[in-house]
Formats: sequence, C-alpha cells, structure tokens
Amino acid sequence: MAKQIDPCTLVLFGASGNLSRIKLMPGLFRLDAAGRLADDMKILSVGRSELSRDQWQAEIKGMLDKKFKDGYDQKVYDRFIARNHYHSNPPTDADSFQKMAAKLGDESIFPQNLAYFLSVRPTDFAVIVEQLSGVGLVDESKYWRRVLIEKPFGTDLPSAQALQAELTKYLKESQIYRIDHYLGKSAVQNIMLTRFANTMFEPLWNSEHIDHIQITNNETLGVGDRTTFYDATGALRDMFQSHLLQTLALVAMEKPADLTPDSIRAEKIKLLQSIRPVDTKNLNKQAFRAQYAAGRVCVGDGHGENVTGYLEELKRDGIESSHTETYAAVKLFIDNPRWKGVPFYVRTAKRMHEGNTAISIRFKKAPMELVAGQHQNWLTINIQPRECIKMEIESKIPGLDVATRTLSIDAPQRQQGDETIDSYETLMLNLMEGDPSQYLHISEVEAQWRLVDPIVKAWAEDKTPLHQYTAGNRDPQESSVIFESQDQFWRYSIELGGDKH
Ligand SMILES: NC(=O)c1ccc[n+]([C@@H]2O[C@H](COP(=O)([O-])OP(=O)(O)OC[C@H]3O[C@@H](n4cnc5c(N)ncnc54)[C@H](OP(=O)(O)O)[C@@H]3O)[C@@H](O)[C@H]2O)c1
Repeated sequence: MAKQIDPCTLVLFGASGNLSRIKLMPGLFRLDAAGRLADDMKILSVGRSELSRDQWQAEIKGMLDKKFKDGYDQKVYDRFIARNHYHSNPPTDADSFQKMAAKLGDESIFPQNLAYFLSVRPTDFAVIVEQLSGVGLVDESKYWRRVLIEKPFGTDLPSAQALQAELTKYLKESQIYRIDHYLGKSAVQNIMLTRFANTMFEPLWNSEHIDHIQITNNETLGVGDRTTFYDATGALRDMFQSHLLQTLALVAMEKPADLTPDSIRAEKIKLLQSIRPVDTKNLNKQAFRAQYAAGRVCVGDGHGENVTGYLEELKRDGIESSHTETYAAVKLFIDNPRWKGVPFYVRTAKRMHEGNTAISIRFKKAPMELVAGQHQNWLTINIQPRECIKMEIESKIPGLDVATRTLSIDAPQRQQGDETIDSYETLMLNLMEGDPSQYLHISEVEAQWRLVDPIVKAWAEDKTPLHQYTAGNRDPQESSVIFESQDQFWRYSIELGGDKH
C-alpha cells in the first residue's frame, strides 16, 4: 500500500549531471506518472549555469525525450514540467545560498519540507551542507529537512569518519540518507522477504545445512573511459565495499524484530560488525586479485568483440603502470553461532564471460549417498539481469536403473504486467516518505570500511605484478586458492548442475 507523503520540495544539486539525466529526472517523471508524488510536490534544480526556468524546462524535456523514446503521456508531462523550477548557484556568487533560501521561502510555490539530493562530487557534499545550514535550510524546528548523500561515503574509514564529522556539525543522523542504490533493487529487497516470509528456508539457513555461499557481481564491461577514476578506486572499493557487503548482510543477518527501519538496520549493523577481519598475513589464501588482459567479450546481441586489456587502456590515457584490481575475490567468515565455519566467497570482476549478479548457496552433502555422483543442492537468488530464484535438486532418472540427475526449479521473480521500477525511483520515494531502511547507517559504512581498508592497504603495498586474465573468460583458475575445500568451485548464472569449470 502506498505510504502517505508529506508535501515537499526536492532540491536537486547536480541536476545537469549524468546521473540526473539518466536516472533521477526520468525516475521522478515515472513516479509522477504512477501517481506517487504529492499533488503540490515541487522540484528545484540547482546548478552553476545561469539558466531561466524556461531553458531548464526545455533541458528536462530533452532528458525525457531521450529516455522515453516511445513517447509519454502529455498530461503527465504538463503536470511534471509545472513542478520544476531552477536556481542558479554560481560559485562566484557569495550570496547564492541566501538567494536560494529566499526563493525556497516562497510558501505559495514551495512546500517547506525539504529533501536535498546531492548528486555532486563527493568533495562537495560537506561544503553544500555547511552552506545550507548557514542560511537556515537544514533547520527542522518547523518542517523536516533530509539530505541524500550520493556514493561513495568516503574512500576509507578515516575519510568516511571525517565526512561524518563535517555533516554532523549541521545534521542529525536521522537527517542523513546515505545511498547504496543496490538496496533500491527489487531483487535485493526480495532477499529478506524470501528468507523471512517462507517457512521452508529459515530452518536450513545456517552452518548445519549450508556448505558455503557465493555472492557474485560479474560484468562484461571494462572500465571504459573512466580509467583515472577506476585506477584510483579498484574493484574492492567500487563494488565490494558497499554493494556486495550490503548484499551479504541481507543474506546473513538475523531476523529483525519487525520491519521498521531501526530494527532492520540494527540487524544489518550487528552482522557487518561480526564479519571476521581478514588476516592480512595470510591474505593470499583469503583474497585474490587480477587484471583483465586483451580478449574477446560477448556483446548484447550475442556476438563477440575484441577488446584491449586494462593496462593497455591505462597506457592510452597516460597511466604507465597499475596494481589496481579489476577482479577481486575474498573469503569471509562470520563470527556468530549461525554461520560458524561457513565461508562466504564474495567476488566482483570486469570483462568476464557474462554479466550477472547472484547469490548462490550450496547446501551440505545429503546424509546418505544413495547413488554415486550425487550432487549437492544449490539455491540461487539471481539479482540481475534476470530476477529469479532457482533451486537445484537431485531426482531419479526414470527407468530401470537407480540413478539421479539434477533438476532445476526456476522461478522468475518478475511476471508479466509487473511494474519495472528503477532503484533510484524507490529510493527517492523512500527519501520523501522518510523511510531510511534502504539507506546506510553510519555504523554500516564504518564496518564496511573497517573490513576493506586492510585488504586495500596490503594490496597497495604488494608490488608483485597482478595476475592477468583473458577478457571474456570465466574466473582465473588461480582464484580457487581461496576455497576452503577442493570440491568447491565458482558458480555462474543460470547453468545447471554442480560440474566444475
Ligand atoms: N553517474 C552514475 O551512474 C553514478 C552512479 C553512482 C554514483 N554516482 C555519484 O553521483 C554523483 C553525481 O554523479 P554524476 O555522474 O551525475 O556526476 P557529473 O555528471 O560529473 O556531475 C554532477 C554535477 O556536478 C556539477 N559539477 C561537475 N563538475 C563540477 C565542478 N568542477 N565544480 C562544481 N560542480 C561541478 C555539475 O552541475 P552544474 O554544472 O549544473 O553545477 C554536474 O551536473 C557523484 O557523487 C557520483 O559519485 C553517480
């Protein structure tokens, strides 16, 4: 059931940027089309350029035309465009925030509950909040004021804590909405529901029955033209630190007392804090890194395309050498009774043979091996591109002999007629509703950096050239060094059976 949303003004910093053009403006339009915006809700875009309201509305039209190539409803468009206003905030104008406060103060146009979306460079997050505070725009004495902070929240624990210290000079924790857009994905939200809304899973969800769990994010894409950004970041900080650890938290956390934001976040925090720190003295057995070399990847239409390697791409952009990983696989253990001794293998890689995000759970061997070669059960929760739940069970091959084969029970989560909602749409709605359950608490961010920082540091200090894997292939064989037992192996998207690669 749709929640009641207070009338509010969404103030969008960085509205002319890439994220806003591709996701935010089209997302707000779709929320309007779905009747999910309050009637008098307004959007104030803030940018450095001097633009009139008409010019900005023409810009928005361009964004929508590009996104919705099959057209859109004119009535919804008229309603949406009328919500949109623009404020020019040139850095050279010392009074620009004062002028913004004066504009927003016109209650005949702008509802006074204010949701700020900071879709700007991370170095600007704290500066903007300080300036908003300076003109009284985060004061909550009469209306609510919430600030959405884009990712990344820091680049390590000290920088995350420094950003937090800056923000909390002006904001309470309840005003800060730290985004991880993975948490807005319907298939990610379904992890918790699958676990707790079905009685058949929870009794098996522990070390007594589970052999190990794999959390995977593989991409066929390379780093593209983001070489400088990526080389300073790497797979661990780009994907693992937040998206994959958040996924792990949802898979492994204890059942929350209820579905309130506080209860859900309390269980996630407890889980993240109980992940055993990685032993950096034995890092080679717990983590594996590599870089993609030239190869051939599958493109959308199923055809192959020759691609260059990571180091060559860097050279093209003037970066001579690199120890940054485009492949990272890490083994983690959770120190609590439920998960005692169960390895969690978390991996992310670019330029793999397929793009897929999934959670694959392998169950322990059946107590009795009735026939030789009997496979262990797997449960896969596939996040993207296909949202599905897949269970693999052993079943008798009909006939005179007693032999089994693996059957796959494959249930698409998405059915015909279901809404397709982008994660940013869900998260912007949650921001306006005041529901932070799909946003990160600072304790989650800190726990994530605390886990990742020692690995990043140890890898930065190790100047051994990185293993090179051929673009378009599966995981490098050498990555299996992190497996706890010889019968463990990487799983891929939808393929059947437990055969090793
Ligand atoms: N793009 C994505 O898919 C994506 C995904 C995840 C996270 N993010 C995060 O979302 C935020 C925005 O990303 P984006 O890709 O939209 O960024 P972007 O296109 O580079 O820029 C966003 C806005 O920042 C302002 N800006 C750019 N350069 C500036 C400068 N030198 N000084 C002051 N302002 C400047 C511009 O607004 P005006 O010129 O109008 O002031 C621009 O519209 C970032 O924090 C990023 O890390 C983006």
